[in-house]
Amino acid sequence: MESTRSKLINLLAKNKDQYISGQALSDELQISRSAIWKHMKELKKDGYVIEGKSNKGYRIIEFPDKLSENTIKWGLETNWIGKNIKHYEAVTSTQIIAHDEARNDAPHGTIVIADEQTKGRGRVTRNWHSTKGKGIWLSLILRPRIQPHEAPQLTLLTATVLADVLRSYVQIKPQIKWPNDILINEKKAAGILTEMQAEQDQVWYVIIGIGLNVNHTEDDLSEELKGIATSLRLETDKEWKLNHLIQEILVTFEQTYNFYLENGFTKIKQKWESYGFKIGQEISIKTSKDHWRAPFLGISDDGALLTETNDGSKTKIYSAEIDWFKS
Ligand code: BTN
Repeated sequence: MESTRSKLINLLAKNKDQYISGQALSDELQISRSAIWKHMKELKKDGYVIEGKSNKGYRIIEFPDKLSENTIKWGLETNWIGKNIKHYEAVTSTQIIAHDEARNDAPHGTIVIADEQTKGRGRVTRNWHSTKGKGIWLSLILRPRIQPHEAPQLTLLTATVLADVLRSYVQIKPQIKWPNDILINEKKAAGILTEMQAEQDQVWYVIIGIGLNVNHTEDDLSEELKGIATSLRLETDKEWKLNHLIQEILVTFEQTYNFYLENGFTKIKQKWESYGFKIGQEISIKTSKDHWRAPFLGISDDGALLTETNDGSKTKIYSAEIDWFKS
């Protein structure tokens, strides 16, 4: 059941450009005017900036920086993404919770987000360090009508969404290292983990896990990560509001995903390649069987890396570690 507090926030949030009178709030919520006043005092303590005018009523001017369902939804202009948000202070991994939610029929566009993950998951059984309050640790549930073999396209699409947001909102020039690491100045700032539940020709759901390092200082990075990882703060010398960044990501994701459903993958692939790290250059490719050097030629429609084998013939690689030669 929705609490009175949360109903009150929703009412104020819906009316964000106008005042809503104490009487109207009291009628709507079926509580006394003095109870409303007490709630307002509590909200202010929690960091909400609320303007109260005696003959007009109340208006929220600013939400607190803290992440919550309400603060993420405040001013979020999307049609389907983020309508259902599950926020936690600490979880093992948002991926695990998102799988539970998806199995329990959570709608397309549901977001699971946490301030901290104690066992954040990275690709290929790696850990993902998710320091409390420093980054965006988010899993998105999708129910796309696509074939299972097309699902990697969603990972590549997500990488372009993050790159677009970093370019236009944070104003830095990111690159995408195949398949889905977001690099800034050759250090990793974000990663994407896509997991799916599917049958042979039907996708039940896809979970896209996004980890973005935002306000980490050098001290927040472990010894192991210094030198290979970075954050937006380290790259821009500025602290970033997580709520605003999350909203930028959600809005851009919705637009890009809608475009993909209408127009297919070709344009998304071109966008990915425009950010592609070391495209056209020689890279080192390590698969479970082999290790060789070859040019990185681009990506295919099913998300594979296009390259050459040792005898020069063209080949598609679906799973490999790629590395490069530092200048
Ligand atoms: C990688 O680059 O290895 C992928 C990292 C994905 C991390 C995100 S953080 C939110 C979501 N929950 C997890 O446990 N992992 C993903």
